[in-house]
Amino acid sequence: MNAPLAAGLSAAAFDHLAHLLHARSGLVIGPDKVYLLETRLAGILKQHRLADLSALAERTRAPGAETLIRAVVEAMTTNESFFFRDDKPFAHFRSQALPRLIGARSPGQGLRIWSAASSSGQEAYSLAMIVAESRAALGGRGVEIIGTDIAREQLNRAKDGLYSQFEVQRGLPMQMLVKYFRKEEGNWRIAEALRAMVQFREWNLLADLRGLGRFDVVFCRNVLIYFDQPTKARVLDAIAQMMPPDGLLYLGGAETVLGITSRLVPLPNERGVYGLAAGAAAPAAGPLRAAAAT
Ligand SMILES: C[S@@+](CC[C@H](N)C(=O)[O-])C[C@H]1O[C@@H](n2cnc3c(N)ncnc32)[C@H](O)[C@@H]1O
Repeated sequence: MNAPLAAGLSAAAFDHLAHLLHARSGLVIGPDKVYLLETRLAGILKQHRLADLSALAERTRAPGAETLIRAVVEAMTTNESFFFRDDKPFAHFRSQALPRLIGARSPGQGLRIWSAASSSGQEAYSLAMIVAESRAALGGRGVEIIGTDIAREQLNRAKDGLYSQFEVQRGLPMQMLVKYFRKEEGNWRIAEALRAMVQFREWNLLADLRGLGRFDVVFCRNVLIYFDQPTKARVLDAIAQMMPPDGLLYLGGAETVLGITSRLVPLPNERGVYGLAAGAAAPAAGPLRAAAAT
């Protein structure tokens, strides 16, 4: 019998929980992250009157444990997000991607934008604010913004569009706060017009993504970092298949496609922005076709 990894967590129970999390959400959790299991699952232990993590692992094997498993998976997600996170991708989207995509589409063609791990909604609403500010240039084209996540609580927060003073102080320019939010008992509620621009849906990145349709722009930021290489490759390849030839993918600062998939290539001189590699989609010489960075 293996030695316990921590008080109340046998090696077998750890393996079971780690496998479960990997299979359900892609999250890779090594023995050095036992403290994360302990802190994030403490509430579930209490709620279900379970003595320790080994007891929780046992309970997830019982018939009818699906709701519990969902709660475990959700509790283990990292949901940190803020408005206009890292600035640069949003500046690129506003000043490069949007104008060029508008130029490349006929007036009747709308644009579709996906925030692929939208958490509590700040990323999708940041994109919505940029789109709202670009109305004149859009010339009546419709823009559909979809936010998806695996975590229901975060999706509900996103749909609600209510943010604390602390949350709006992180990254949101004052003029945007004044223009697109109203104060509500010490918090800030997103304007209905902006909320109506974004649709939030529960979707696991490990599931078949094709049902979401095609997207001209994909923000898939700060989620791949939690996955192993094969999972990253699978998700990136699936995303590539959902993009038109001139579509764009934005990754987080610690994420890349390099060494993971050959379907996507970095835009020259742009960090964190990727386009389809030549031959990865039906050929189309759109202005946003990416070239491999040298
Ligand atoms: C750190 S947040 C990133 C939020 C936002 N993209 C940003 O950069 O600010 C990561 C999000 O990925 C979600 N997530 C983790 N695994 C997922 C999966 N397999 N499918 C969909 N969403 C997932 C989590 O629930 C969490 O809300």
